[in-house]
Amino acid sequence: MTTILAIESSCDDTSAAIVRDGLVLSNCVANQEAHRLYGGVVPEVASRAHQANIIPVVDLAIKNAGVTKTDIDAVAFTRGPGLLGSLLVGTSFAKAFALSRDLPLIEVNHMQAHVLAHFAEDPKPKFPFLCLTVSGGHTQIVLVRDFLDMEILGQTLDDAAGEAFDKSGKLLGLGYPAGPLIDKYAREGQARFPFPEPSVPGLGFSFSGLKTSILYFLKKETAANPNFIQENLADLCASIQEIIVTILLKKLRKAARQTGIREIAIAGGVSANSGLRKGLEEWGKKEGWNTYIPAFQYCTDNAGMIGVTGYYKFLAGEFCGQEVAPYARQG
Ligand code: KG4
Ligand code: ZN
Repeated sequence: MTTILAIESSCDDTSAAIVRDGLVLSNCVANQEAHRLYGGVVPEVASRAHQANIIPVVDLAIKNAGVTKTDIDAVAFTRGPGLLGSLLVGTSFAKAFALSRDLPLIEVNHMQAHVLAHFAEDPKPKFPFLCLTVSGGHTQIVLVRDFLDMEILGQTLDDAAGEAFDKSGKLLGLGYPAGPLIDKYAREGQARFPFPEPSVPGLGFSFSGLKTSILYFLKKETAANPNFIQENLADLCASIQEIIVTILLKKLRKAARQTGIREIAIAGGVSANSGLRKGLEEWGKKEGWNTYIPAFQYCTDNAGMIGVTGYYKFLAGEFCGQEVAPYARQG
């Protein structure tokens, strides 16, 4: 029996989990509300909040799992990518905990963990599968050959899908993060405003042009009618969601057709989006895919996925030393 304490602190959520033999026994997340005031994540505020939250969150994860500190066999932590100051808090905590109890340390890549979140619960995808990993910082189509054998087939050239939601929402005057709010309003609206699809070769993505076209469209419409946004909020949200989901699913379909793979998964914060979840099922039926959508608690940042990845690295004997430092960018 292998019991892993997992720590995630790459952005603005402080999370700890206990994972036993790949099963998540507890998964606790402290969200940082302070960033809403600023309309985005403020790195310095995030690091300070992680520092305040980390010990209570770890204590809660241990308590909720019904284990004690002496049951823990290894410590897994997010090494990156993420905000450097945020990563430093989780990394330092993990190192100190492991050092004090003479436990092995396991470094985890945050994006790899989003993909392996699929192994926290049934149904689990079969290898090889494709995973569209869509978060606030990344948009990738990943070919997953095995737990620890992945290849990025395509990714965004500029903004991530989550950023496209958040920045479009900001233009509509919505709070941060705007992704879940756009999702909520879109349910009552019609996608009747056509926004252009970018033309990006291969399996790449681009979202910066969409943001600019929304900006100019809103400028033009609000010049004629200052209440345009308020009067059309639901339809604007539905239109923005529709174009982002269409861009994502078209590239996913292209990757599936190119590789011949029919096991198709989505992961990351944007995989919580109801339009994307519904779209994947509909497109999947037409294309003959087996589709996999994570439970909500495993979509956005969480330590459960870090612990699941840590478990497979533990089995593979992939440990790291105390000298390891976080990487802020993709590594
Ligand atoms: O994976 P995640 O929690 O953090 C990163 O690793 O970035 O993803 C956060 C992103 C944010 O951009 C947020 O707006 C987006 O996921 N998001 C959503 C929804 N829930 C979270 N976007 C659209 N619809 C949602 N329901
Ligand atoms: Zn993430």
